[in-house]
Amino acid sequence: MNPVWTIAKKRDGEELSATEIGEFIAGYACGDIPDYQMSAMAMAIYLRGMTTAEIAALTDSMLESGACFEWPAGGLPKVDKHSTGGIGDKVSLPLAPMLACCDLQVPMISGRGLGATGGTLDKLESIPGYRTDLSMDEMRAVTENVGCVISGATSDLVPADRKLYALRDVTGTVPSIPLITGSIMSKKLAEGLDALVLDVKFGSGAFMKTAELARDLAESMVATGRRMNVATTAVLTDMNQPLGRMVGNAVEVDESVAALEGEGPEDLMEVTLALGAELLLSTKKSESIETARKQLQKTIDSGAAREKFAQMVAAQGGNLDASREVAPASDVAAGRGGYIASMDTEKLGQAVIAMRGGRRKLGDVLDLSTGFEMLVRLGDKVEVGQSLARLFSPANVADEGRELFLSAVQISDEPPTVGPLILDRVS
Ligand code: URA
Repeated sequence: MNPVWTIAKKRDGEELSATEIGEFIAGYACGDIPDYQMSAMAMAIYLRGMTTAEIAALTDSMLESGACFEWPAGGLPKVDKHSTGGIGDKVSLPLAPMLACCDLQVPMISGRGLGATGGTLDKLESIPGYRTDLSMDEMRAVTENVGCVISGATSDLVPADRKLYALRDVTGTVPSIPLITGSIMSKKLAEGLDALVLDVKFGSGAFMKTAELARDLAESMVATGRRMNVATTAVLTDMNQPLGRMVGNAVEVDESVAALEGEGPEDLMEVTLALGAELLLSTKKSESIETARKQLQKTIDSGAAREKFAQMVAAQGGNLDASREVAPASDVAAGRGGYIASMDTEKLGQAVIAMRGGRRKLGDVLDLSTGFEMLVRLGDKVEVGQSLARLFSPANVADEGRELFLSAVQISDEPPTVGPLILDRVS
């Protein structure tokens, strides 16, 4: 294969064969194809798109670049959820132990913050001692002994994605439906799952800014999962404001523990129960969404899910009862009265980055104690001087965080129309 011809074929809008895609990705993974040719191919895919058959071949070849989990026959069903990323989205933390209390096992591979969105691994690292670098054998053991694990991708899992993702991040080729599908689905399929639910977010804090784009991405990922015999469904959820009240790292762990103790905010619980119910239905642990939600709620009411989370944390070297540091609090006051009309939710994520809770560049060391607590939601009426949020930040970066926060929240005289949190499901 001459990689130049394959790039030119995609550049001209032609469909690539599975062999051409397979050879290109394998060549890139082993270093025969350099970054500049992969960059050109990623841009051609971004501009020209891919057919369903091409997306399938892309996902397969990325999956084949590394190892996969294989589970002994006859064990409990393996399930996972994946979110396309949002601000304040901490659903994985309560949901994994809740599922593990329903006779399911959750081998969850998670990531770090990406752009303005927070990362599950960064959040969990605010728990003293918690290890996010488990080997595949360690992940397997925690999954089987506890029922859930949340750790990072090891170097042998989907190495093609690690290289390609870093390249896309610096070549303007992240928001491409074929490339996102290949990236997310290859990692999830490497977990050896029976069922997967995708939380595909749309709005000002999501990669997909409109519900239409989110639906296209959801359909692409659901079709890819099903083709690989994984019972896959998706839920389209609104990300025009943060999910839950807390945004940051340690403070989101605090809110997750509160959720497991029955004190979770309504929106966080709604999304958590909706996603969990999909998996209970897909694995036939429940007959209807209603009974599934009740089953999941029971794991909280009984204290079992809280206990399971503490067990998982302990199995990964952490101590949930050790105190997590939270930076000093200060108020963010409204500059005028009116209705909370809209939020630039991505900018709210940038406020956390400004307070060192997220990365500006690769390798940045995070201050996991920073963040904020939202005290208002879209549509709320506020008075001038009223507190919109509590900022958790060291004094030297608090002003930058406060400024970004205030510029992200629009207050107007007219109340806005607020859409549903859960727009639809895709199956
Ligand atoms: N998350 C991923 O893992 N990959 C993408 O391409 C986008 C979000």
